[in-house]
Amino acid sequence: MSETNTNVSRRRFCAGACQVASGATLATLFSGRGGSPTSPSGTDSMLGVLPGRFTGPGVQVAVAGSALADPGGAVLVESTAGVFLLARTSATGFSAVDAICSHESCTITGTDGAAYVCPCHGSRYNRSGQVMAGPAKASLRQFATSFTDGVVTIAL
Ligand code: FES
Repeated sequence: MSETNTNVSRRRFCAGACQVASGATLATLFSGRGGSPTSPSGTDSMLGVLPGRFTGPGVQVAVAGSALADPGGAVLVESTAGVFLLARTSATGFSAVDAICSHESCTITGTDGAAYVCPCHGSRYNRSGQVMAGPAKASLRQFATSFTDGVVTIAL
């Protein structure tokens, strides 16, 4: 197995494990507050989820009919190559960052205005993946994107 494939396999494993951990944490939050969805800040909401198609050099995401149809929207992309946070920043511009929190590796599933919010301990990141509020200290890895015929490609 090449190093690239090994990295992708590790990424897939971590993404799956972290999603389970993240789901367990959300279940704890829900059950601890009368069963209604909530978050550490109480103001953020869950990102919509879009599938991403891993093509080898990148992950492709169709934006039609999703929160990415208009500038300002953001989603969580799930793919066999990992999970990503993808935001539309302009008519043709997108920002893609790793969706695995740099604090303790939970999958980031929340949004509050222009911030991504981690459900585990409330770290907040801007759309470029930079930390706005801890406990996370490190930025999320950012990926180049391209946009053609309604499909965003996240370059890996
Ligand atoms: S794992 Fe994200 S804030 Fe702790």
